[in-house]
Amino acid sequence: MKKQEIIDILYDDKSNEQLFKQADQVRADNVGNEVHLRGLVEFSNICKRQCKYCGLQSCNKEIERYRILKEELISIVKNAIKLGYRTIVLQSGEDDYYDTDKIVEIIREIKKYDVALTLSIGEKSFDEYEAYKKAGADRYLLRIETTDQKLYALMHPNASFENRINCLQNLKSLGFETGTGCLVGLPNQTIESLADDILFFKELDADMVGIGPFIPHEHTPLKDSAAGDFWLALKVMALTRLNLPDINIPATTAMETLNPNGRIIALRSGANVVMPNVTSKEYRAKYEIYPGKICINDSPELCRGCIENKIKSRGRTIRKEKGFRKNN
Ligand code: SAM
Ligand code: FES
Repeated sequence: MKKQEIIDILYDDKSNEQLFKQADQVRADNVGNEVHLRGLVEFSNICKRQCKYCGLQSCNKEIERYRILKEELISIVKNAIKLGYRTIVLQSGEDDYYDTDKIVEIIREIKKYDVALTLSIGEKSFDEYEAYKKAGADRYLLRIETTDQKLYALMHPNASFENRINCLQNLKSLGFETGTGCLVGLPNQTIESLADDILFFKELDADMVGIGPFIPHEHTPLKDSAAGDFWLALKVMALTRLNLPDINIPATTAMETLNPNGRIIALRSGANVVMPNVTSKEYRAKYEIYPGKICINDSPELCRGCIENKIKSRGRTIRKEKGFRKNN
């Protein structure tokens, strides 16, 4: 699509239902009816960065910090595998405690099992990414967050847009299935820049794209900002499906936080992936990126059963393979 076409659709709410239907059809034609489940482990909420929207940023002194060490982390992963997950996603703040050797050790341990492994641990050097890849990591998630460079600079003190782009290009060149995405509804974000975000996903040839509405957190500088709009986030997601027909697109947890049926609506509007939380109960509430996060009092077992029932009751099935972009 041309940029202007995307902009026109984002501004016009009269044809939303048609857009969601079309994205659903493109999803069915290109990646089928199966939904991929990825077990998400939130293993550390310690972060050295100060992303203005994020509850984990280092300036937030109200949050109780935790880090899950290797042995416990592996037992959480083993439990997720027992529950049937074929992909494990390890996510954390940028926590330097986990140096390259520690992450490599964890990757090797997990890759002894027959699962795909995704990392979502932030910006690292080329050499670090290379070491993760050599150790067996398959995929990496790093959202660009916004392609509006001015807004990016405002939202990310002491960080650089160029480095974010570099990281994504390095991940791609190393052969990771690379995931990116954006936040929808950041203060002063424009519709035009959301169109640029979608074109950026296309240009990068992202293998996965996660779109989430911004949700203000009371212990961040954006505490008084308005939340992003669920329907606008859904439109950005649907347009991403139309522009990148064969990629993996999650129905994000942030969508469900703003709309109690958000993930199912997303699965009917272009999404084909869900990432249920498999972290033990005691840590869930502490990984408070934004308030009102779903499932913080639930167990991995409950989350698995709940989402599986919801998916099956809508006539979709769960994919039993690892669920790479290209077929297996
Ligand atoms: N540190 C890693 C990174 O930066 O990629 C992963 C963890 S970070 C918490 C994961 C994602 O949470 C970010 O990419 C961001 O889009 C999302 N996020 C952070 N704060 C948010 C908020 N207030 N509302 C919605 N999503 C948010
Ligand atoms: Fe580091 Fe959000 S600021 S995870």
